[in-house]
Amino acid sequence: MQLQIAPSILSADFLNLGRDIRTLNSHADLIHLDVMDGVQVPNLSFGFSVTDAVSKVASIPMDAHLMICSPEKYTERFMDSGVKYLSFHYEAAGRGTRRLLESIRARGVKAGVAIDPDVSVSKLFPYIGTADFFLIMSVFAGFGGQKFIYDSIDRIAELRAEIVRRGAPGVIEVDGGVSTGNIAPLHEAGAEIFVAGSSVFKGGDPASAIRALREAASK
Ligand code: DX5
Ligand code: ZN
Repeated sequence: MQLQIAPSILSADFLNLGRDIRTLNSHADLIHLDVMDGVQVPNLSFGFSVTDAVSKVASIPMDAHLMICSPEKYTERFMDSGVKYLSFHYEAAGRGTRRLLESIRARGVKAGVAIDPDVSVSKLFPYIGTADFFLIMSVFAGFGGQKFIYDSIDRIAELRAEIVRRGAPGVIEVDGGVSTGNIAPLHEAGAEIFVAGSSVFKGGDPASAIRALREAASK
């Protein structure tokens, strides 16, 4: 199974964002961009001006995670920004989920569907075979620095088992409270893309923090 580290710039230094992106270019696999609208989740973050600016410096793929209402209104614009992975919440798209996934894939961008910890994993089963990836939130979407919810490991294993049972492709991304303390069981359960905000940026040395995550995952 592959292992990709996707640091979330939500915890980066926004006054030195170019510097932080260059560090990620040399050490991470993806750059995770958390877009929040203050309605779908109780927080605001950033939008196109930041994703456009990051795209000018990023040499590794950008992974945008939309925590917004009516994601279908904005996905095209984020793809114009150059994102290569694009996810939105099932809670926001509902019955429009399949069509939205297909429209993202039609542009050659990896399409992902995300769920919060209180949404049954079985809600994702209908999209196995359509989505390129599934984003399992291991905290409630909205804020960096929250405590990891342990149940997430079993939720990932449950989704992984169904993907394997159907013999379909489908990558699992996990987001929220990921650290050296939980990355190994998450990887073992079937997660392959690991979003990490605080554990990468808060110690002041993102390069070593990313290295530590990779080492911990393989232990
Ligand atoms: C939360 C975001 C996460 C967040 C992760 O809504 O989706 O990507 O930045 O931050 P940590 O790793 O600090 O939980
Ligand atoms: Zn995220």
